[in-house]
Amino acid sequence: MKPTITLPPFPDSIENWWWNATKEKWPDWEEEKLLNSLRQEIVAQSDRFNKDRSFEAGSYGSRDLSIFAYGNFYFSRTWMAMNYAVAETLSFCNWSAPRKGPIRILDLGSGTGASGLATLHLLRNFGIKNPIELTAWDYSGKSLSFLKNLQRGCSELWPESRVVTNRYDLRSFANHDQKQKFDLVLMGYSFNEILQDQEICDRDLWLLECCQLLKRSGFLIITEPAEMKICKNLQESASMLNKRNKSLHIHAPYLNGLHCPMAEKESKFFSHEVRRYRPVKTVEILNRPLRLEIREVKFGLSILSPTFPNHEVSGFRTFRIISPIKKRKGTISFLGMGSDGQEYLYEFQRRGLLKEEMNNLLFLERGDIMHLEGGEIKEEKKRVRLNSIGSLRGAFVPRIGVSI
Ligand SMILES: C[S@@+](CC[C@H](N)C(=O)[O-])C[C@H]1O[C@@H](n2cnc3c(N)ncnc32)[C@H](O)[C@@H]1O
Repeated sequence: MKPTITLPPFPDSIENWWWNATKEKWPDWEEEKLLNSLRQEIVAQSDRFNKDRSFEAGSYGSRDLSIFAYGNFYFSRTWMAMNYAVAETLSFCNWSAPRKGPIRILDLGSGTGASGLATLHLLRNFGIKNPIELTAWDYSGKSLSFLKNLQRGCSELWPESRVVTNRYDLRSFANHDQKQKFDLVLMGYSFNEILQDQEICDRDLWLLECCQLLKRSGFLIITEPAEMKICKNLQESASMLNKRNKSLHIHAPYLNGLHCPMAEKESKFFSHEVRRYRPVKTVEILNRPLRLEIREVKFGLSILSPTFPNHEVSGFRTFRIISPIKKRKGTISFLGMGSDGQEYLYEFQRRGLLKEEMNNLLFLERGDIMHLEGGEIKEEKKRVRLNSIGSLRGAFVPRIGVSI
């Protein structure tokens, strides 16, 4: 199976920028002391993201050590998650850059810029030449100044781009008198923090305000941590948004503008992607004694736009993989969400498969969008049994390329 799109790996120059800036901040500290201080902070942040879940301006955006811990450890991962999401917007949801003039991108809860800068880098990597203006909003002024320094320090990665930052508490964003419209509005792992403790209706209203910032051809792209409640909240809000505002369409994670059915019922799987990932060296080193999960990039996703999604009624034949790929004695199987919004089990009999075909199936990841072409394929009670992979095609199968 070949990827349908190759994503650039996380740039070495950014990894080096974070590590060098950290060493420069504490020039007298031995490397081990520096690593251990960062590790302590990484554990505190991991607890904050996963357990305590209390966020305010001073949480982790006001101290240098917190920012360096995030930069050296988490930055490359939220960067990669946004890479997948923007790649889908470009290659599967058919977003295209304006024919002339600048591309305007707004990054809400930008922090030090992982999501916004990842988007600049990806657009340049795909050969998009328009000038780009990235507007970044966050309530951490310190994070925003890191973003600017990083953008300047690695300017070769995003030629002809400009960054404008503004310090805002985005909770009161609904009162904002923003007139400018954007081609892409991003929220990388920030929606859950900004709207923490808000009532569902306030969350939905807030999101509606965000969508007012989109051009008619614009896209709102949200990535979130792959945690059940957070992903469910996101999918509920996206569904609500689409119900209230019929001219705003859901492009992902499901097809044909359909809502995530898992948000409405108790499903074993909740909407998120799990991508294999080879962490950068600094992350490996920091993680040695911590043993956090670093070999996967997991994230929840929503992509919304005033434009119409591709509409192809093909039931179980076009689907997104929503479970791990299971290799059993007699079968290789996974669950997929069909383009009709139904959940199907896809089951391949191993006895009919060559080794290479089995490897092709095991190469698939949760989040890939696939299509079963032509031929007679039987579906019975939401179960699709196959003896070969001859008819299986990738519709969106992104993989990270190798560094040169
Ligand atoms: C997990 S970080 C994500 C940073 C970045 N988007 C990324 O992709 O790595 C969440 C960001 O949301 C910001 N944030 C949280 N609540 C906020 C609020 N009420 N107003 C503005 N920014 C907020 C935090 O300062 C932090 O930078």
